[in-house]
Amino acid sequence: MTIDFDPYSMAFAEDPYPVYKQLRDEAPVYHHQGLNFWAISRYEDVVAAHQDHEAFSSAGGVTIEPMVDNGLLIMKDVPEHRWHKALVTKVFTRDRMNGMEPFVRERCAATLEAAAAKDEFDFVKDFAVQLPLNVISELIGIPEELRGDIHHFANMLLARGDVDMMEVYKAKVAADEVYAQLIRDRRANPRDDVITLLMNTELEDDAGVVRKLTDEELAARFMELATAGHETVAKAIPNGAMALARFPSERAKLLADRSLIPNAVEEILRFEPPSQLQGRTTTREVTLHGVTIPKGAKTMLLTGAATRDERRFENPDVFDVTRDNDVVSIYFGYGIHRCLGIHLARLEIRVAFEELLARYPGFEVFPERATRRVLSNVRGADTLPCRPGEPSRRLEHA
Ligand code: HEM
Repeated sequence: MTIDFDPYSMAFAEDPYPVYKQLRDEAPVYHHQGLNFWAISRYEDVVAAHQDHEAFSSAGGVTIEPMVDNGLLIMKDVPEHRWHKALVTKVFTRDRMNGMEPFVRERCAATLEAAAAKDEFDFVKDFAVQLPLNVISELIGIPEELRGDIHHFANMLLARGDVDMMEVYKAKVAADEVYAQLIRDRRANPRDDVITLLMNTELEDDAGVVRKLTDEELAARFMELATAGHETVAKAIPNGAMALARFPSERAKLLADRSLIPNAVEEILRFEPPSQLQGRTTTREVTLHGVTIPKGAKTMLLTGAATRDERRFENPDVFDVTRDNDVVSIYFGYGIHRCLGIHLARLEIRVAFEELLARYPGFEVFPERATRRVLSNVRGADTLPCRPGEPSRRLEHA
């Protein structure tokens, strides 16, 4: 049977999981003739490909389409990647992220209260986007008045399918100018934020020179953190709310025992990974399951398919908040490109559900009225109606 895998179809955007299953079962190394890309879908194979960063290069971009190299960390190979990653990791520490919890909680509560003033609000735009956008902006120092633009640019860059590429290009040019201006401002007025820290941190680069980042390198980090730092979390929180609506028994478990929320966060990310695929380009022939991927081939590591692999997860299509944590957690990538924002992302999603369930235990979302677009490599709704219900009289945090 042929596999109808059209990454740009609305049907795939609505529900990619039947196609993923067919790929895992019938063509674990799949070649898309029309778009000329390859796809790996089984859990073990995706993990192995992540680990083999020499055979699977990120330099050609991490989506199906070619990407312009703007100096993004995610598009760097070793040895250059090592230096750049070491620098951001030095600044983006677990302690600094954990120190954000009171701020994240306060922002989350205020955003929820404001949204829930209406009988029905948009869970995505009024809540799930606002929280991570404000948190990452605070962390890297994006002024309040620019945050809406930053979100608009990021949103445009993710759009695929029926989109006006001229509008996308214009958004990209406008974003580049905003980031360049922010860097100029920050050089003139250093502050207590991550970008200023990055600006002032020295490290020995691959040529053995001790140096700091240039303005172009800083602008790339700025853009990467602002975009990756909010789009994925903004998808994860509604993905979680929709999963709880589909599986009411799991929601009841969380209401009865808030200590399950951290584990539920992992299950939300496994069940509906916000980052569905990581693109690579092979630097040599790779043979797997008797199929040879040629050198120089665009290859997708399908995380969205891997986290539903029945070879690795029992009843993978069941959302189970008590499921044993996936120790590898490939929904954050694996190997050298593993997500820089893991601690922050986990913190934000956990706090979002703690506050939501504590403040509005009867909240309802309506997945059947959610709207979606065809997107490049992420999965999530654009809009999702929510009724907050009665506020809880007794506020308690897990
Ligand atoms: C639920 C939320 C998130 C998910 C599911 C997620 C997922 C991922 C994945 C799968 C990768 C690997 C990409 C690859 O191998 O090509 C990645 C890399 C990255 N993520 Fe995240 N991410 C999330 C949140 C964040 C946040 C909050 C930040 C910023 C603070 C962030 C910053 C980055 C950066 C900079 C990289 C590139 C790392 C590298 O190339 O070494 N992410 N993320």
